[in-house]
Amino acid sequence: MPLIRIFAALVICSLAFSQSLMAKEIVIKFSHVTTEKTPKGKAAKYLQELVAQRLKGKVRIDVYPNSQLYNDKEVLKALLLNDVQMAAPSLSKFGKFTKKWGLFDLPFLFKDDNAVACFTNGPKGQALLNAANNKGLQGLGYWLNGMKQLSANKPLIVPDDAKGEKFRIMSSDVLEAQFKAVNANPQKMSFSEVYNALSTGVIDGQENTWSNIRTKKFFEVQSDFTESNHGVLEYILVTSTEFWNSLPKDIQTELAAIIKEATLKETQWALEAAQADKEFIIASGRTKIHTLTNDQAALWATAMKPVWKQFEGNVGKDNIDAVIQCGQ
Ligand code: SIN
Repeated sequence: MPLIRIFAALVICSLAFSQSLMAKEIVIKFSHVTTEKTPKGKAAKYLQELVAQRLKGKVRIDVYPNSQLYNDKEVLKALLLNDVQMAAPSLSKFGKFTKKWGLFDLPFLFKDDNAVACFTNGPKGQALLNAANNKGLQGLGYWLNGMKQLSANKPLIVPDDAKGEKFRIMSSDVLEAQFKAVNANPQKMSFSEVYNALSTGVIDGQENTWSNIRTKKFFEVQSDFTESNHGVLEYILVTSTEFWNSLPKDIQTELAAIIKEATLKETQWALEAAQADKEFIIASGRTKIHTLTNDQAALWATAMKPVWKQFEGNVGKDNIDAVIQCGQ
C-alpha cells in the first residue's frame, strides 16, 4: 500500500477515534430556579467547575439558573424524561413523588440551621435521600437555604394578623395546612411568579429565606417582614435513578465525592447569605423588619404545631423524633 494511503487511513482512524471519545462525554444539564448569586446558584457553578477539573473530557455540567429552562414543577418531569439530569428543588415540591419529604415543611420542627445539618447528616436523613427511588428519583445530597421569614403589607406580630391574608406557598400540602392553621389563605404558586403576584396584589404575603427575599427583590414589594424563623427551606440535589445507575461506576464514585465537596461549600454560602442578605434588606430601608418577643413567637408555634400530628403518618413519627433529638 502506498505510503500516502496508509497515512490517509491513519488520519481517518484517529479522527474517528477522537470523535468517539468526544461522543462519550456525559453532559449533565443542571436546571434550577434561583439566581446565580444565591447559595444554590453558586454551588451549581462550583459543581460545574469541580467536574470540569476532575472529570475533564468524561463529564460536563451545563447550568441553567433562574427558571431559564424549567420551573420547579416542570423540571421534575424533565428529569424523568432525561431532558435534564440534575436539579435542586426545595423539598417542599415533591409531594407527588413522596410524602416523606413533607417533614422539612413542618412548622417549628427544625430549631435552626444546626438542627437541619444534624438531621440531614444523620442516619434518618441519609435514608430519606432514597425516599423517591420508587418514583424514579435519586437524592444525591441536601443543600441548605435557611430559615424562612414571613411577610405581608401589614405587620404580622400575632397569628391573628395573618387571618384572611393570601400567602403564596410552594406546592406543599404541609405548607397549605400551616397557613390554614392561622386562618390565612394559602395559594400554591411557582417561584418565578411571586414577585409579580406580590406587586400586583394577587397575593398579600409570602414566606421565604433572606437570600430569596433579597435576590428576588420581594423586600421591595412588601411593607413588613417578621423574623419568624418558623420553618426551613432545604433543597435536595436530585437526579433520575435511571441516569444515575447508567453512569460507569468510577464516574459515579468521583461525582459523588465532588457533590460532597460542593455540598459543604453550599452550606457555608447559605449561612453567610442568611446574615448578609438580612443586613442588606435592613440597610435598604425599603421595608420594616419585626422581631418577635418570646411570647409572640410561642403564639405562632402553638397555632401551627398541630400540623405535625396531621402529617405524622406521611412523614414518619420516627423522623419527627429524630429531628427533635437534634434540638428543640
Ligand atoms: C428556591 O429557592 O429554589 C425556590 C423556593 C421557592 O419556591 O420559594
